[in-house]
Amino acid sequence: MSRSAHPAGPRHADVLTEGHYSAPAADLNVLDEKVWSRTVTRDADGALTVGGIAVARLAEEFGTPAYFLDESDFRARCRAWADAFGPDADVFYAGKAFLSRAVVRWLKEEGLNLDVCSGGELTTALDAGLPAERIAFHGNNKTVAEIERAVEAGVGRIVLDSFQEIVRVAHIAQRHGVRQRVQIRVTVGVEAHTHEFIATAHEDQKFGIALADGQAAEAVRRALSLDGLELIGVHSHIGSQIFDMAGFEVSARRVVQLLAEVRDEHGVELPEIDLGGGLGIAYTSEDDPREPHEIAKALSDIVTRECEAAKLRTPRISVEPGRAIVGPTAFTLYEVGTIKPLEGLRTYVSVDGGMSDNIRTALYDAEYSVALVSRTSDAEPMLVRVVGKHCESGDIVVKDAFLPADLAPGDLIAVPATGAYCRSMASNYNHALRPPVVAVRDGEARVIVRRETEEDLLRLDVG
Ligand code: LLP
Repeated sequence: MSRSAHPAGPRHADVLTEGHYSAPAADLNVLDEKVWSRTVTRDADGALTVGGIAVARLAEEFGTPAYFLDESDFRARCRAWADAFGPDADVFYAGKAFLSRAVVRWLKEEGLNLDVCSGGELTTALDAGLPAERIAFHGNNKTVAEIERAVEAGVGRIVLDSFQEIVRVAHIAQRHGVRQRVQIRVTVGVEAHTHEFIATAHEDQKFGIALADGQAAEAVRRALSLDGLELIGVHSHIGSQIFDMAGFEVSARRVVQLLAEVRDEHGVELPEIDLGGGLGIAYTSEDDPREPHEIAKALSDIVTRECEAAKLRTPRISVEPGRAIVGPTAFTLYEVGTIKPLEGLRTYVSVDGGMSDNIRTALYDAEYSVALVSRTSDAEPMLVRVVGKHCESGDIVVKDAFLPADLAPGDLIAVPATGAYCRSMASNYNHALRPPVVAVRDGEARVIVRRETEEDLLRLDVG
């Protein structure tokens, strides 16, 4: 995600050579379809519409800040992933990206499975009627109570993350008189090219069991020896927001090598491998994500090739995209408040949300785009930083972007590609009220997660 410094218009000329931003788009009114959900367009008056509804109407009805989720885009992306991988593979949507009961129902209808990583996500999925066998349960420190609930519900698989958990799950399953289907999460030693905090397959981190020093082979040995477990395969997740398929190829190769070792040692061909999620999306015009069919082909080619070389039956592949499904389908709508030009630097545009509804910029140095959406403008571009209303100078939503210089308090601006890890990581910092998620489809908008109220805050504060 390299971004070049670029000379641009006359404003703020002295900083334009040292920033990490791109040149302003030739026309700020044009919405780059790469970063906006599929039904987003501008209407005849220049206002952004989604699912056929103009943002001014959405803001009036639902308030700001709010996330607007393009339901038909979400469903289309589910179908694209399911079609790309076909009937011989499984797509598990990673619920941590964003989960609600409506989303679970859409997944169910579109034929996807679900990856959950907490009791709360499990409850949401079951409550929305997803059959337990379509659920995979993850986590590096599942509690005994969570494991009990998952086993009782009959989840399709539990992904084991440690030696202690192998024994724990086996014990609980036996107590319930069942053989729990499990996978073992291995760390394959790949350094994914992403932010350190979201790369997960290098060895010095908390997830999984290392392949390199024979630990993973030992974990397989133990899992195969326990009556309460049915070991169905091996799992690897190498990180997040990854564009380069090379890391997945190395991961797939190493996982297949492990399957071959297991076959040689135990005479057992494990029937499944899961290659995790982590596929990147476009947050700005400079990001070039792969399409699901390209990803599916790259992964299945490498697995097939490696299995042929190892004379193994090709295992059933599963993947767990979260961000790649929901990320591009939503934008956050904000109302512009205070505008503060800092001469020779940039203009700070404050919005009515901030790090409480999008922590990713502060946490990962994430890059986002932004557009004026309540109207078009022919004013020249001005270099802005979009900031929130929280008491923290790191409360930045969009670090560097261009908005029209005639931007005024009361204008609506929107940040696209906020469907993943924004509402799900939202907080009540400064007692902010977490924004609603509104699903928009075919001219209709409905709240799927309502806005928090001050009563909600006080209800938890029991004095
Ligand atoms: N499978 C497993 C085992 C995972 O740990 C994750 C993400 C996924 C699938 C889905 O990854 P995705 O396709 O959404 O990248 N909060 C961070 C991302 C952390 C992801 C953790 N695990 C962010 O905002 O970028």
